Amino acid sequence: MRTIEWKNGVVVTIDQTKLPSTVEFFEIRTCAQMAEAIKTMKIRGAPLLGVAAAYGLALTVCNSKASTKEGLLAELNDSAELLRKTRPTAVNLFWGVERILRKAGESSGNLSGVKDLVIQEAQRMADEDVKTNRAIGENGARLIKDGDVILTHCNAGSLATVDYGTALAVIRVAKEQGKRVRVFATETRPKLQGARLTAFELKRDNTPVTLITDCMVGYVMYKSLVNKVIVGADRIVKDAVFNKIGTYTIAVLAYEHKIPFYVAAPKSTFDLAHYADGVTIEERNPEEVTFCGGQKIAPEGVDVLNPAFDITPLKYITAVICEDKVLSPAEFKKLSFNSAINS
Ligand code: MRU
Repeated sequence: MRTIEWKNGVVVTIDQTKLPSTVEFFEIRTCAQMAEAIKTMKIRGAPLLGVAAAYGLALTVCNSKASTKEGLLAELNDSAELLRKTRPTAVNLFWGVERILRKAGESSGNLSGVKDLVIQEAQRMADEDVKTNRAIGENGARLIKDGDVILTHCNAGSLATVDYGTALAVIRVAKEQGKRVRVFATETRPKLQGARLTAFELKRDNTPVTLITDCMVGYVMYKSLVNKVIVGADRIVKDAVFNKIGTYTIAVLAYEHKIPFYVAAPKSTFDLAHYADGVTIEERNPEEVTFCGGQKIAPEGVDVLNPAFDITPLKYITAVICEDKVLSPAEFKKLSFNSAINS
């Protein structure tokens, strides 16, 4: 299921806030609308944010009334600033913005040449994302054995990408290879991406999935109900993985129970220029915690902490599965800034 598409100057994408009860596609016509869709999480998931940001800039060139190339580049810079302010943690969003700006800036073409180039580059990024995810799936599937029971957190499926997913790509390819795989999905409070999106995707694929609340992870590991963990990532820095809040807890539990913990992510998620301390973690609206399913579940005025992501040191990670290969933490640490795609 393709999550986002460019159709004659309009972006068409699924409203992820309405899933699983309604599968509704909507149109995005301006970069401001794209920024709003990202902020409100109608569009979410690190790889998808990279492509969505690129499409946001493609909308800017489509709508531009600039009469000079310099004017168009200035509009692109303004749009880039708007997009960068939406969500701070997933590095793919910044990667998508920079890749388009670089392409536009390097162009020696005229005004319409730059416009065409930006649109083509955004579409190329969307197509590349699907191929990249397929390669992640193939590399990761080598680690999967017939009968494995895999725990995943949040949503790292088609909905978090253009198609196919990252963590779920590994499961999809393993299944295509004839391996029988079962999945435990955590509900992923407070935004419930696991319950609403991952369970939805896996049910559609006919992959056996058991939904648990986040606090049941220790129980299922203690009872040996799962034998592998695969999650996605929003940013992988020199010493740690940033992913959905709750990932660190799962990684520490997996370490204690000697359960392999894999992170599946494209190289556009690698940020080799930073260590964990240099990254901003998004803090979201307290009402995401004090309300559940539209129902108030906490007393008025209670203090709330609502970080959207947490930090898992590489020590807890068995391997990073990317489109090129499966990297041990030691191999990952040896990667240099220049070898990263987002350099
Ligand atoms: O806040 P979200 O829903 O955008 O967070 C998404 C995640 O944390 C995913 O696990 C991550 O982006 C990997 S998606 C392939």
